[in-house]
Amino acid sequence: MKLLEPFHLGDLNLKNRMVMAPLTRNRAPNTIPQDLMATYYRQRAGAGLIIAEATQIIPMGQGYPHTPGIHSEAQIAAWQKITDEVHKAGGLIFLQLWHVGRISHSSYHGGKAPVSASDVRYEGNIMYPDFSYKPSDESPRGLELEEIPGLIDDYRKAAQNAQNAGFDGIEIHAANGYLIEQFLRTGTNKRSDNYGDSLENRLRLLKEITEAALSVWDSKRVGVRLSPNIGEGSKADANPQETYSAAAELLSSYNLAFLHTVEANLGNSKASDLMRKAYTGTHLVTGGLTKESGEKLLEDGIADLAGYGKLFIANPDLAERFKQNADLNAWDSKSFFGGAEEGYTDYPSLKEAQALA
Ligand SMILES: Cc1cc2nc3c(=O)[nH]c(=O)nc-3n(C[C@H](O)[C@H](O)[C@H](O)COP(=O)(O)O)c2cc1C
Repeated sequence: MKLLEPFHLGDLNLKNRMVMAPLTRNRAPNTIPQDLMATYYRQRAGAGLIIAEATQIIPMGQGYPHTPGIHSEAQIAAWQKITDEVHKAGGLIFLQLWHVGRISHSSYHGGKAPVSASDVRYEGNIMYPDFSYKPSDESPRGLELEEIPGLIDDYRKAAQNAQNAGFDGIEIHAANGYLIEQFLRTGTNKRSDNYGDSLENRLRLLKEITEAALSVWDSKRVGVRLSPNIGEGSKADANPQETYSAAAELLSSYNLAFLHTVEANLGNSKASDLMRKAYTGTHLVTGGLTKESGEKLLEDGIADLAGYGKLFIANPDLAERFKQNADLNAWDSKSFFGGAEEGYTDYPSLKEAQALA
C-alpha cells in the first residue's frame, strides 16, 4: 500500500505518506497550549507528519475561543513540551501559522474591529468567545498599506518562534477563507494599491509571507495550504482557476516542502487535479479521503501525500489501523471544538480496543 510507504520530504524521513491535517480543537486556555495537547499529539505520532492546529501569529490573528498562539514566551515554552513528546514518540510535527483576518470579532480584540484586505463583511457564521456561532454584526477594517510590512514581519517572527519551539517545519495557512485568502480573492480584496486589483498584486501578500518564512527556515521545512474551491457555486473569486493556478506556479519557484490542497468535496470540484498540473513539487491533498480514495490519489499520481482530518481525530493510530485493515472509530463532532479529554484523548487505540474486547 502506497499510503504506508516511507517518503523523503527534503531531509525529513516520513515513515508513511499519511499526514494528520491541521485541526482546530479549542483546548488552549488563554491561548497557551496545555499538557493535554501533548498527549493528544503524541497519540497521533504514527502519522508520517502531523500538521498541528492553526495557531495565531499575533493576538489580532485570533477568531475562535481558546486557540493557541505562537507569539509569547509562555506559548513557545508550552509548544516545546508538545514537540518534545511527539519527537520522543518518533513523530514529526509542523505548525500551521494562522491569521483569521475578517473571520473574527471585536470582542476578541478589546473592541477593535478585525482586519482584512478590505472592509467586506463575512456573511457566514463566526464563533464568538462564548462558543456561540452566528453571523457577525460588524465589518472588518481594511489594512492600511503602511501596516503590511509589520504584518509580514509578524509572520517572520512566528516562523522563528515555531523553530524555537522545536517544530520540524511550518505550514502557512493560506486557505479556508482566512486573511491570506482574503487578499487572494477578488470577492474580498477591493484594494487598489500594490496588494490588490491585478492578479499579481493579489498574490503579493502570499509571496512576501512565504519569503519571510524562508528567511527563517530551509525551504523544505515550509509548506503552504490553499483551498482553490473551484466547484460550482463558489462566488468568492471571479476566476478561481486562474487565481489558484497562478498561486501554485508562484509557489513552485520556492522548492517548498509541499503544497497542501484542500479538496472541498463540491461535487466534481477536483481542485487537486488543477493544483497537480500547476505545481511542480510535493503535493499533499486533504478532504474526505478514505483509505481507498487516499491510496488511489497516490496511485494516480495526483498527490504524493494524503491528509486525513476527522479520521485522525477519532483514530489516533490511523496508520496502524489501515495496515491491519482494522475497523475505524467514528468521530463525535460534538467534541470537536472545546472541552477536555472527552472526544480528544480518549479515542481508543487498536490495542486498547482489543484489550477491552
Ligand atoms: C474539527 C476541525 C478543525 C479544523 N481545523 C482546521 C485548522 O485548524 N486549519 C485548517 O487549515 N483546516 C482545519 N480543518 C479542515 C481540515 O484540516 C480538513 O481539511 C477537513 O477536515 C477535511 O478533511 P477530512 O475529511 O479528512 O476531515 C478543520 C476541520 C475540522 C473537522
